[in-house]
This record gives sequence, structure tokens and C-alpha cells, in this order.
Amino acid sequence: MYLFRTDLEAKSAPQVNVPQAPRMMCLNESCLDPFPQISNSFLRIMQKTRLNRYMADVSAELQHELARYGGVREDMLLFGNGADDMIYHIMAAVRENRDSFAVSLDPSYFDYKTFASALNLKLQQVPLDDAFSFDPEQYLHTARHPDCKLAILCNPNNPTGNLLRKEDMDYIIQHLPDKPVLVDETYFEFSGQSFVHELDKYPNLILVRSFSKAFSAAGLRFGYALAVADTIAQLRKVQTTFHTSILVQAFALAILQNSDVFADQVKQVLKLRTELSLWLKSRPGFTVHDSATNFLTFKAGERSAELFLFLQKRGIALRDVGAHPLLKGFLRVTISCADDVQAFMEAVQSFER
Ligand SMILES: Cc1ncc(COP(=O)(O)O)c(C=O)c1O
Repeated sequence: MYLFRTDLEAKSAPQVNVPQAPRMMCLNESCLDPFPQISNSFLRIMQKTRLNRYMADVSAELQHELARYGGVREDMLLFGNGADDMIYHIMAAVRENRDSFAVSLDPSYFDYKTFASALNLKLQQVPLDDAFSFDPEQYLHTARHPDCKLAILCNPNNPTGNLLRKEDMDYIIQHLPDKPVLVDETYFEFSGQSFVHELDKYPNLILVRSFSKAFSAAGLRFGYALAVADTIAQLRKVQTTFHTSILVQAFALAILQNSDVFADQVKQVLKLRTELSLWLKSRPGFTVHDSATNFLTFKAGERSAELFLFLQKRGIALRDVGAHPLLKGFLRVTISCADDVQAFMEAVQSFER
């Protein structure tokens, strides 16, 4: 006898199918370990924080500093265990019944499917075209269905790396006043563009952000959502009471107190992104997509699969994103740091010889 939700029996648990390698250029992580950078601030915060208690002053301080970083009022902000966790809880807050679905783009962040499936929320996807744009009318047609409970736009989009057209996004948000529109801004620090200034204009807009990329802290599991106060109050209802470890909160606060370190790191990544993109574009037979993120999506002519294995043997892990027809033969490489990028370029050169 199966003891759990009937739809779960046939589903599998989330899996990460990436190799472990000395140079992890496959998960859009940073090389910078944040701990040595911020350990003094972290320890200072921990000295006045008691882990035997459920509550600590650090929560209010973090709320304040994060709101300042985001440029919003404190009641427009909710944090949790990563952007993933925020997306999961937004889905949990909108699902009405087994017919409920969310709409996103295709291809887009793979785990929208994973989390929707965990909650028995369906997911419909609207295709991107060759230029990685989409037809707003087609998107609206799907999103206006009464069972569509959430519209998702990933901006910049993973795995394509591009920013969506602002006018298309405005059009969608304006024309869905009665549906929540989740804009995933996990990579916004690398694009310099955000919808944060539109939050007061669009009460249906929810932004989701992460400390895993620009703040170099993927293992920390910290992310946040920004929206008008009433939306934040609704989302809070589906979180558990003490949802984010005090240790994680202290670490996130210490990161914000040292945000210059990470802003410099983002600048470095942007410089490397330009250099690597030009370098890859100069290789005969290579195709490279422009990126507004900390990764590049590229194709080594007909030899991508071979290159992928060659790099893996040299301890460099990339992500094969070629399963989608629009990205057939494409690989994704993280701009993690100068050292990795240098090793990657040397390995590509050896491959070509
Ligand atoms: C588009 C997008 N959203 C969300 C996430 C998850 O971020 P976090 O590590 O904060 O859960 C990722 C991670 O790669 C991502 O690419």
C-alpha cells in the first residue's frame, strides 16, 4: 500500500547530474570562498547571537540591510533558503488544486519543473525562438487560462544567458493583473538590470534573488523575494515559523556588511566574460551566445560532445545544455574566476591541436 500522495509514487527525487571535478565550471558557482573574506564580521555577529534561542536580533538587522541592498521597504522583503526555496514556496502559495499550473519559458531554469512536480503543480512552457525571445501573445494566451496560477519569467534566462525584452515583460505583467508574475533575478547583478523599480507599479510582480551567484555563497542556501507588502504577507503564510537558520542569517548579514568584496568579484567576472566571449568567438567553427550572466553558452562546431569529455578528463566540468533543440550541441561554461578561465582556454587550445 502506498502511503503518500498518489502522484508521488511514479516521480523521482531531485538529482544533480554533474561530474565533481577540480574546476567546477558547470553550476554557475563562484571560485571565491566567502568565509575568509567575511569571517571577522561573521564572528562579531555570532558573539552577540545565541544559538540556544529560536529568535535573534540578527533577523531584524538582516531584514534592514537586505532591504537597503534591494532598495525597497522592509515589508517588501521575505528571505529563505535560496532562490529555489523562494520559488518552491511561491508555487506552494498559488497552487489551488490538481488542475493548477504555472507557465514558464522553454528552455528556462530546469528546476521550475522539479519544484512544480514536488507540489503537484503542472508546468506549461512557451517556446523561445531562435533569438531567445518569445511571443508575448502566446505566453498571455497560456497564462490567462483560469487554471494558470503563476507566470514565471527568468531574467536573465538560464541556460540561454540572455535578458528578455523589457517591453515583452512589461506587456505580460500589465496584462495579467490578476495573476502573480514571478521574475527570477538570480543573475541580475551580472546584467545590471532589475524590475525592482516597478514593484510599486505592479502589485502582481514578485522578484526572486539569490546569494549563490554574485555573493559567492551557493552552499549557504540563502535567497529572497521582493514584492509589495501584501504579497509578502501572503507568502509568509506558507513558510515554517523559524524557516532560516540563525547561522545562515548571520552569514548573509556579514556578506552584506562586506558587499564591496563581492561587487569587485562581479566586476572581475564581467571583464572575464567579455574576454572569454571574444576569445571563443575567434575560434574557427565556434558559436557563442551573448550573455548577461556569469556563464557563456557556446558550441564547438560539431565537436562539442568530444570537447566536453576532453575537458572532463582534464578536471574541468562544464554543463551540457544540448538536450533542448534550440541549444543542440551547446555547452555552458561558468565564468568562475581568472584561474579557471585560463585553464579552460589552455585546455580548449590543446583540444584544437
Ligand atoms: C535561474 C535560477 N534560479 C534559481 C537558481 C537557484 O538559486 P539558489 O542557489 O539561490 O537556490 C538558479 C541556480 O543555478 C538559477 O540558475
